[in-house]
Amino acid sequence: VPVDDNVPAPPPTIGVVGAGQLGRMLHQAAIGPGLRLRFLAASAGDCTVAVHPDHDLGSALDAAALTAFAGTVDVVTFEHEVIDLEALDRLVAAGAVLRPGPQAMRAVADKLDMRAAVAAAGLPIPPWRRADTVVDVVEALADWPDAVLKLSRGGYDGRGVFMVSGVDEARAVAGEVFSAGTPLLVEPRLAFEAEAAVIVARRPGGETVVYDPVATTQVDGQCRQVVAPSGLGDAIDEQARSMGQAVAEALDVVGLVAVEFFVVDGELSVNELAVRPHNTGHHGIDACVTSQFENHLRAVADLPLGDPRLRSPAAMVNVIGDGDVDPRDRLAAAMALDSGARIHLYGKGPRHDRKLGHVTVCDIDVERAAERAWRVVAALGGQKAGSGA
Ligand SMILES: Nc1ncnc2c1ncn2[C@@H]1O[C@H](COP(=O)(O)OP(=O)(O)O)[C@@H](O)[C@H]1O
Ligand SMILES: [Mg+2]
Repeated sequence: VPVDDNVPAPPPTIGVVGAGQLGRMLHQAAIGPGLRLRFLAASAGDCTVAVHPDHDLGSALDAAALTAFAGTVDVVTFEHEVIDLEALDRLVAAGAVLRPGPQAMRAVADKLDMRAAVAAAGLPIPPWRRADTVVDVVEALADWPDAVLKLSRGGYDGRGVFMVSGVDEARAVAGEVFSAGTPLLVEPRLAFEAEAAVIVARRPGGETVVYDPVATTQVDGQCRQVVAPSGLGDAIDEQARSMGQAVAEALDVVGLVAVEFFVVDGELSVNELAVRPHNTGHHGIDACVTSQFENHLRAVADLPLGDPRLRSPAAMVNVIGDGDVDPRDRLAAAMALDSGARIHLYGKGPRHDRKLGHVTVCDIDVERAAERAWRVVAALGGQKAGSGA
């Protein structure tokens, strides 16, 4: 049979490490173009497992489980960063294809490494210090009486971020959080005007697309609302885009990189990175030509990237667990309220402060989009604006 070099290889089977709501939405995005996924789920109760039959059960912190999983797929990607990083290096040495690679995973798994990586890329970051002891924390508080202590590893959704004022409170909190066994990042508490984020998709070889920057609102460190476009002005949007692109290149990311920013005096500094789909891009399922989830899969499969543009202004509001209220029980009421709202529930059992879903509303008036989304979230029984734990 003659070999035709112009016929591209069929798309690879993509292995996704992790099986939470991001995995679930990756699965949803894979269905349209018919891409094949397998998941490594930590538990049979993970919310992707309920909707996707093809998975292994095992921990991403277990080198043997990771290695066995990698052997069943063509390319490996990640939906969280709590991973055995040393195992990733060994997998690459053994010929596995990891997208993104270990260098990018390392830069996002630890907030101290993240600060160093962003600084090395020449991008602005907030003032910060490493603290290994309570004494280090107390010394930092002499310069920054209102400070933020962050666990360098394992924190997410504001778990692992502690606001402290004054030496006494800092000493008490630091004593407790050092028991988690990781060093701390200490920062001054910034009076930012806004928080923004941008997502970049990048293919092997360097082709990128950049999503419209968004404005985000966190309550108690947890993302609650995202609006797109950001409304922060062209200058800030342009900075966000170019910094996003710079991070993608500096870390040689394949897949997605999400960059979170603080806006202080009209200037951006980089707060946080993730190299996976991110909460600040969820609106794109309903509002963009190509969602972040589909572009993540396209990038890691080395397929041409899709148009990231907004089809409409949009607002996304998270459904955050309020006590033991189950939004699934309130679906009919929420749907009756606003037939234009797009409701996404993740199939997770209700728990206070847990991300259970999100609601996106596309509306030419972005403020009205946000109001409509908040009303539907309230009907679902999610926490109200400003009512964090
Ligand atoms: N230095 C700071 N000053 C003021 N607020 C901060 C600071 N650092 C973090 N925050 C708030 O806490 C949120 C979560 O912090 P982040 O570092 O992104 O941790 P996580 O990994 O939990 O997302 C931020 O989005 C912001 O709202
Ligand atoms: Mg964050």
